[in-house]
Amino acid sequence: MGKRTAIVAGNWKMNGALGASRDLVVELAAGVGTGGGAEMLLCPPFVYLDAASRWLESTPIALGAQNLASEVDPGAYTGEVSGTMLRDVGCVYVVVGHSERRTLYGESDEQVVAKFRAAQTVGLVPILCVGETLAEREGGRTETVVSRQVNAVLETLGASVLAAAVVAYEPVWAIGTGRTATPDQAQEVHALIRALIAAQDATIAGGLRILYGGSVKAGNAEELFARDDIDGGLVGGASLDVSEFLTIFHAASGQEPAP
Ligand code: PGA
Repeated sequence: MGKRTAIVAGNWKMNGALGASRDLVVELAAGVGTGGGAEMLLCPPFVYLDAASRWLESTPIALGAQNLASEVDPGAYTGEVSGTMLRDVGCVYVVVGHSERRTLYGESDEQVVAKFRAAQTVGLVPILCVGETLAEREGGRTETVVSRQVNAVLETLGASVLAAAVVAYEPVWAIGTGRTATPDQAQEVHALIRALIAAQDATIAGGLRILYGGSVKAGNAEELFARDDIDGGLVGGASLDVSEFLTIFHAASGQEPAP
């Protein structure tokens, strides 16, 4: 673990129901302890955020959303949810540019940058997701693709915006597939991302949390989080299972799970 405070974020995606979500939050809150050396973050679907924020009161667990509108001002944007609304219901973080948004809903680098900017405009901390597909990795284009995705933010907004942001490296081929990047593969890309940013601002790069995502599980979290440039995880499937997620969290926090 590096010198940065790790984040273990649960990305619930489009899963859950009201009662089951409450049970999950309550059980996680009971098991998280004081948090130790890491932050736990939950990103439920939009409709459960308001309730989740109440369930999370007096716990050290933070709340985030999975997406937001690129528009900041209210208006005629049917189906969209603004950053201001997310702040209203207690969100601190918001995921932007998740590969499912990029591939299933056609979000471009430009839209991702607009969402990143919209988040910061209202004081949310964006978690910028980047990552290559299997074809891109096999074609030797991992560095090019990840650099392009990070540079989209760097070139438009400058490195300074990363002082109030988090990056998540999520190789698309590892998401929901059970196929995790090896700690070496992940560390290599995390170091590349940090170097790219350090070329513009070494201090900001040194303080930036870079999370790994893609089939993080209880069984592989510890060796991933032990690497120098891996500052926690963005966890999908395993975040829906209390004991898995708590084990992953405790691998980052260095604390023993509560009995
Ligand atoms: P997974 O998803 O842990 O289920 O692979 C990670 C993510 O998409 O954020």
